[in-house]
Amino acid sequence: PVHDEPFRPQLSFSPQRNWMNDPNGLVYHDGEYHLFYQYNPNKDTWGDMSWGHAVSADLLHWTELPLALPVEKDARGEITQMFFSGSAVVDHANTSGFGQPGNPAMVAMYTAVFPQARTLNGQQIRAGTQAQSLAVSLDRGRTWTQYAGNPVIPAPPGPYAAEYREFRDPKVFWYEPEHKWVLATVVAQQHKALFYSSRDLIHWEWTGEFGPAGAAGGVWECPDLVELPVDGDPARRRWVLIVSINPGGPAGGSGMQYFVGDFDGKTFTRDRNVASDDVRWLDYGADFYAGVTYNDAPGNRRLLVGWMNNWQYAGTVPTAPWRSAQSLPRELGLRTLDGQVKLVQQPLAQVQALRSGLLYSVPARAIAPGVQAVSLNGAANAPLEVRMRLQPGTAARSGIRLGTAGTSAYTEIGYDAAQRAVYVDRTHAGDARFHPQFAARHAAPVVLRDAELPLRILVDRGSVTVFAGAGDTVLTDQVFPPPGPAAVSLFGVDGDAAVRDLDVWSLNSIWK
Ligand code: FRU
Repeated sequence: PVHDEPFRPQLSFSPQRNWMNDPNGLVYHDGEYHLFYQYNPNKDTWGDMSWGHAVSADLLHWTELPLALPVEKDARGEITQMFFSGSAVVDHANTSGFGQPGNPAMVAMYTAVFPQARTLNGQQIRAGTQAQSLAVSLDRGRTWTQYAGNPVIPAPPGPYAAEYREFRDPKVFWYEPEHKWVLATVVAQQHKALFYSSRDLIHWEWTGEFGPAGAAGGVWECPDLVELPVDGDPARRRWVLIVSINPGGPAGGSGMQYFVGDFDGKTFTRDRNVASDDVRWLDYGADFYAGVTYNDAPGNRRLLVGWMNNWQYAGTVPTAPWRSAQSLPRELGLRTLDGQVKLVQQPLAQVQALRSGLLYSVPARAIAPGVQAVSLNGAANAPLEVRMRLQPGTAARSGIRLGTAGTSAYTEIGYDAAQRAVYVDRTHAGDARFHPQFAARHAAPVVLRDAELPLRILVDRGSVTVFAGAGDTVLTDQVFPPPGPAAVSLFGVDGDAAVRDLDVWSLNSIWK
């Protein structure tokens, strides 16, 4: 694989060619992290939805494999079944009976989309149906057989029967306290997550629902439900319900929100110490959507991967011959901050193993009003990693600009004192002509602790990801700068600022 085109991500997965959206079927098995994904094998825009497949031993270096679940068409070329988003589990206890001695089945649960009315396995299916179906692999995800009794959840439960065209994105996981499978799915237009239970992955019982709540401006998609210790204390655990919404995200278009609460095996209840209209955004940038977590990750790590794009303009981003990347996996935690339990995210720890050179390092540096270049130790192209503690001092705005040497293009990442916000400004970042909403500034409220703002920035070809504070504030934005060596500068406006412990690293590409 070459993977060396302009804007080709060097830190996370993108398919060699054609269109990709949501990550699907994230599961670890037998030394491999599987990444399935929404894929159009025939074009670089959405359509013919199939499950693509890649594997990795370390979540950094990926091998793209043949299609796992290809779109189905009739003799006239009309689509008879598409494979929308879903999840995968390894059925270690062989609850389904699909496994073989010594060889547990990998079971995928996906949304089967039927554009035309038909009969399937004796079940009548109406045109436009979205139903939940199973596929089974006995060879480590390489080849798949659809379950002969599909769909296993042919329609939404009674009260939502009318929503059969908007019923999707099943996330299955093992619920240890009751030795059963639990599934979160959505009736998208109702802004509701629905929960089901099963003993065998085949027979499902509807047990509860949550929503609307928080942000409900657009459809609810791709739910996930994860249990995490609070402040690292295994005795204090909360559940986090993750929901993608489109449109209505914090930066316009697609966005992700989360709720902290409890799951009793049947339903999710939000903790009551937050106002019901309080929205917790998982990412404040424009380009992080449909994120879901791995099942069975070693060490019980909660690893989240999101689609680094936005339905607002995803079909027009200037990349070829592929469109869209998945994010670098993020490790999730919960921390008590400012009196509230908040989701905190850190980039995959192993990304440090990609560090190839320290381009700049300073324990303390003042930032005077204006723009001050940082002289890097050698020319370096993205990917880069920047770490610093920004002390905004008296400056109205201060921070860092990441640009291309010899051009006027830069992405500005800074703190805005009046707004009390960290922001990514991509209005000068490069190509933005492909969509009127692309050139924009995206801000997230932050609380300075000890008068400073820790920032960790991953600068990839085609994106920047900013982890601010304790990782409780994250922004992911695509950028399409002119190619060439990096130019880094510090800037301040109307006052004096400073940085502490500023390090700039060059990173190795995952494709080399
Ligand atoms: C989210 C989504 C899902 C759906 C898939 C279709 O981006 O709309 O709800 O399953 O994409 O590709």
